[in-house]
Amino acid sequence: MKVTSIILAAGKGTRMRSGLPKVLHPLLGKPMFEYALETARQVTGLDPVMVIGHEADAVRQAVGSHARFVVQEPQLGTGHAVQQSESLLSGQTELVLVTSADMPLLTPETLNALVEKQAHNSGPFSMLTVIRADARGFGRIIRDDHGQVVEIVEEAQATPEQLQIHELNVGAYCFDAQWLFEALPRIPLSPKGEYYLTDLVAIAVAQEKPVQALVAPDVAETIGINTRIHLAEAQALLRQRINRAWMLAGVTLEDPASTYIEPGVRIGQDTLILPNSHLQGNAVVGKNCTIGPNSVIQNTRIGDRCKIHASVLESAVLEDDVDVGPFAHLRKGAYLAAGVHMGNFGEIKNSYLGTGTKMGHFSYMGDATIGPDVNIGAGTITCNYDGREKHPTEIGAGVFIGSDTMLVAPVKLGKGARTGAGAVVTKDVAEDTLAVGVPARSIRKLKKGE
Ligand code: UD1
Ligand code: MG
Repeated sequence: MKVTSIILAAGKGTRMRSGLPKVLHPLLGKPMFEYALETARQVTGLDPVMVIGHEADAVRQAVGSHARFVVQEPQLGTGHAVQQSESLLSGQTELVLVTSADMPLLTPETLNALVEKQAHNSGPFSMLTVIRADARGFGRIIRDDHGQVVEIVEEAQATPEQLQIHELNVGAYCFDAQWLFEALPRIPLSPKGEYYLTDLVAIAVAQEKPVQALVAPDVAETIGINTRIHLAEAQALLRQRINRAWMLAGVTLEDPASTYIEPGVRIGQDTLILPNSHLQGNAVVGKNCTIGPNSVIQNTRIGDRCKIHASVLESAVLEDDVDVGPFAHLRKGAYLAAGVHMGNFGEIKNSYLGTGTKMGHFSYMGDATIGPDVNIGAGTITCNYDGREKHPTEIGAGVFIGSDTMLVAPVKLGKGARTGAGAVVTKDVAEDTLAVGVPARSIRKLKKGE
């Protein structure tokens, strides 16, 4: 059966008290809507239809080409929101799955079960409910003596007895498309001046058509986000879900409560993640690594057996057996070949460090290409920026750079060259040559093994 999904995202999100539309608030590094979008796509195999309205342009821009859009203006309620998709979907699909962009934790498994239920339902739709003591403002599910769902009552309209009901409307539905678009115009105006999607239950019941309810297997999935408190709760649950999956996959998290792994990250077996570590974006960490404590790994690819101690790595690449930190900063374009050692208080930007090269203390390498087995002395700096432009530095294999050398780019040091401590290198240094002083002069050829 063809299933198309509609994601409701036109509401204002007033309770967030934010200049940013609610569905654009980040949740573990991704805007909230992406979770609902990805889940819907997994269930239907199609781009969802997104109903946008409040800050429609900002939401449309953030979502990009991953959805089809309909604009709801003004926003007259959830029923009215679904109705906006009629021109796009009527006659185009057999089933319509409706969810909200502010419910990021619903899983494809649960929504598949909902679709499956409707595929076997002779009635017009199936809905997801949850049983929980804390109602969080959700609509209450009213069942008759036979256990049949007969009505959803919104909290604002519920009687004191109805408020005691613990079965709640999650806000996820699977409809027979033809019935849906016939029934939507019949929704009455609510006392709040809105057209409630939830009134479709009473409409179906009046037609003596059964509405099916699927009780969500896991309460945590049904967290909807209306406030920043909900946002933090959802983040904690999502994080827990991700952390557990990594532990089951063979990664040790010394303290899961202070480990922040975003959904796009990959980690190899027997890697140890120490407390207060943040793995973000599409970071990839190899096997048998130790990450942390206190590290941020963002969009960085790390090989096997690497050690990253209290450091910040952004858009960098590390081959195998690299050790970094404590207190190092790798920035965009840093590439550390196998066995590189980078000690404390170093910064590398847009630079290649060859196999086995060492940069132990207080150094900055920017726009540099550095060969294998180079020793970068403490305090060495590439002076790569002249106030207008960036310039490259090239350092050949086996070069020994004395402590506190200033490499004034553009500049090249041939393989086997050495600089004296405190040298300010403004001119190229030939292979196997010693340069010293300020500005540095090449004083002699080095003897073999010197
Ligand atoms: C809705 C349900 C409630 C359910 C709850 C679960 C209705 C009337 N009530 O209440 O039974 O328990 O969700 O979270 O449906 N939206 C639009 N256009 C609108 C209004 C809302 O697109 O005109 C979108 C919102 O952006 C949001 C979703 O629909 O993504 C739900 O709207 P919201 O106002 O949060 O409804 P609730 O009061 O939470
Ligand atoms: Mg809501």
